[in-house]
Amino acid sequence: MLNHPASKYRQFAPVRLPDRSWPDRILTAAPIWCSVDLRDGNQALAVPMNVAQKLELFQALVKCGFKEIEVGFPSASNTEFAFNRLLIEKGHIPDDVTIQCLVQAREDLIEKTVQSLIGAKNVIIHLYNSTSPAQRRVVFGKSKDEIKAIAVQGAKWIRERLPRLAGTNVRLQYSPESFSMTEIEFAKEISEAVMDVWQPTPERKMILNLPDTVEVAMPNVYADQIEWMCRNIRDRDSLIISLHTHNDRCTGVAATELGLLAGADRVEGTLFGNGERTGNLDVVTVALNLYMHGIDPQLDFSDLSALREVYERCTGLTVPPRQPYAGELVFTAFSGSHQDAIKKGLAEWEKGGREFWDVPYLTIDPADIGREYREVIRVNSQSGKGGVAYLLESEFGIELPKDMQREFGPIANDLVDALGREVKGEELKRMFWQEYIERNTPWELKHFHADGLGGVFRCRASLVHQGKEVSVSGEGNGPISAFVQALVTAGGPKVEVSYFKEHALSADTAASAIAYIQLRSADGRSKWGAGVDTNIELASIKAVLSALNRLG
Ligand code: KIV
Ligand code: ZN
Repeated sequence: MLNHPASKYRQFAPVRLPDRSWPDRILTAAPIWCSVDLRDGNQALAVPMNVAQKLELFQALVKCGFKEIEVGFPSASNTEFAFNRLLIEKGHIPDDVTIQCLVQAREDLIEKTVQSLIGAKNVIIHLYNSTSPAQRRVVFGKSKDEIKAIAVQGAKWIRERLPRLAGTNVRLQYSPESFSMTEIEFAKEISEAVMDVWQPTPERKMILNLPDTVEVAMPNVYADQIEWMCRNIRDRDSLIISLHTHNDRCTGVAATELGLLAGADRVEGTLFGNGERTGNLDVVTVALNLYMHGIDPQLDFSDLSALREVYERCTGLTVPPRQPYAGELVFTAFSGSHQDAIKKGLAEWEKGGREFWDVPYLTIDPADIGREYREVIRVNSQSGKGGVAYLLESEFGIELPKDMQREFGPIANDLVDALGREVKGEELKRMFWQEYIERNTPWELKHFHADGLGGVFRCRASLVHQGKEVSVSGEGNGPISAFVQALVTAGGPKVEVSYFKEHALSADTAASAIAYIQLRSADGRSKWGAGVDTNIELASIKAVLSALNRLG
């Protein structure tokens, strides 16, 4: 990289719009959506879709509720032409769906496009030519007037052919391609020149699509460009202003959202953001962003995983695991504190009584889009005590006391860290067993018996201590205190029980009870122990020895 990037790259000159109004607006309704998956998305695939794949994706888009779908560039290839004919002749296009076709301002291409549309009910013919200084200079070697003449001539060739589509409801669309890099006054001038030819009216509007063909500035700059156009172009009420953003600076979604605030009516994009280079706008994200603000997006993504599956099969692409809403991991929490907060938030929501969704870390209810939060159950070295405890409880019914979670959490994290990978529940349970349940040195229980009378318990126990059999006896107000007293009498360490809890284990666990005990030694140290047994009393005695052995 350069030490002085300014010697090679420059700032992007923004539009002057000091009285911009879009920052004070909010979105209240869904825009008109147009999917460009089958054109912009398809043309960016290493292996473009065949007719069968395009049809499957078209049907999936219809099922989501797209009413405008750019089906291709029928003059560009036989597959694209054949696809249009198949859609029309086999009746695959619902009456309320409009198909859109892209075409350059060349007479032969326009002719072929019109031929491909004959017999359709609703169509949009989408004319474009590129308008930015770099395109004018490098690609066309033409002046602004000559570039404008290309657009006007293209618009005329289309207008001349409209009678050929009698009986078809035709809407016209013009895109000054590379709009966001074009001088704004020239973008207006060329758009108005096309309007002069097509003569849109409020009753018969044309679509003016203002593409961020290559994203070169921050999204607020695009919003200013859109607001400027909405305010300055003539006959605004005869236009549907459309956005078409790409994602070169990774702000395609932001640019679209701000562009909608700035006054646009319509949005073009693709599922999951497929498209040239870093992709087109991801329509799913913008639609679900609206949804999470309580706005009906007018698109149905209630089975997002099924849609993703069709998309991946047809395009050969993979949705990244962190893709908003759709990615494999977006409803998976790895951090223990996140897991804990989500668990509490979901419990509160399920209890009822809250009007609005407000679960920490989950912007929407995964169930609304056919997904589940259960994917969270995994532990890695970053998972906190909450995640570890959650996994032990949800999979094995082991309900660690809070303070014991604080002790075992870091122990488990260190073990997982040493493994250098995530662990499943079974491995975590094994770690817990090794740390607590199987701690039987230096003290091991061989036999224990206790009787209680009038609130006084007497116990006898035989133990193995450092390889030698030891018999002990003691008394207390319960079997545990009797056993602790017996140990002290036999010369064992002086300890006291500072916490005790026991509960039954789930039916499928071999031992039916588990006990947790915290012992405090005379020098003020505390350790937890745990024991399992089919006999609840023995489980607690084993827990005492587990804690004692861990105190060392
Ligand atoms: O990105 C773009 O500018 C386009 C146009 C053809 C609309 O895809
Ligand atoms: Zn594009």
